[in-house]
Amino acid sequence: MLVVVRENYDAMSKEAAHIVASRIRKKPNLVLGLATGSTPIGLYKELIRLHKEEGLDFSKVVTFNLDEYIGLPPNHDQSYAYFMWENLFKHININPANVHVPQGMHGEVRFTTYETDPKIEAFCQWYEDEIKRYGGIDIQVLGIGANGHIAFNEPGSSLGSRTRVKTLTEKTRQDNARFFKSIDEVPKYAVTMGIGTIMESKELLLLANGEGKAKAVKAAVEGPVTAMCPASVLQLHPKAIIVVDKGAAADLAAEFVYYG
Ligand code: PGA
Repeated sequence: MLVVVRENYDAMSKEAAHIVASRIRKKPNLVLGLATGSTPIGLYKELIRLHKEEGLDFSKVVTFNLDEYIGLPPNHDQSYAYFMWENLFKHININPANVHVPQGMHGEVRFTTYETDPKIEAFCQWYEDEIKRYGGIDIQVLGIGANGHIAFNEPGSSLGSRTRVKTLTEKTRQDNARFFKSIDEVPKYAVTMGIGTIMESKELLLLANGEGKAKAVKAAVEGPVTAMCPASVLQLHPKAIIVVDKGAAADLAAEFVYYG
């Protein structure tokens, strides 16, 4: 595991974009795993700049997003499908046929509720199969929750889990309530890649910024590998890079820190 500490959010984002861009230049049909949330917005801004100003070519890149809320239509401004179009896809030359966001951005499956929709299980298997059909994810971008979750794999998730439905914890719903009119509107369920799915990615790139993430980053990097901190599983991955700003690195023991 390589931990790279950068001065601030901007420098963290540029470092991450530099890594992703280098992988695309090396392999134009890169299979790129993407994340939502506030953390990767700067990374996406920089990728857009690299596309517009330096000709970074996404035309053959294939993307798979980590997760999606259940119950929000893709044109809902808090759906992750919407987030991805607004913050990245509509600004670059990606082929929409190469884009995958759970809940059928690429296919036609849509779920409105968890309890009543029998298509979900089949969809989750399709998503897993689709990742395999493209030869697996080359590099997966990840955020980390203040509770140590990766994607919507909340504490306690099985470390071998596959794409499936998860119930969101109250903490995650509260963390995300800032984007909705009230907490009642925050969905209770999500479709998410499992920890086992994520671990099969050939490379992992986890980003974190701000002191609010410092404890989770410390637990992920230095703590025991445990389902109670799903991000700690990155310690077992042969090629995991963690890029953080100084705030998120605040609690790390010095010997783990590489100031590149
Ligand atoms: P954030 O979310 O980027 O909005 O902090 C990260 C996560 O919960 O995985």
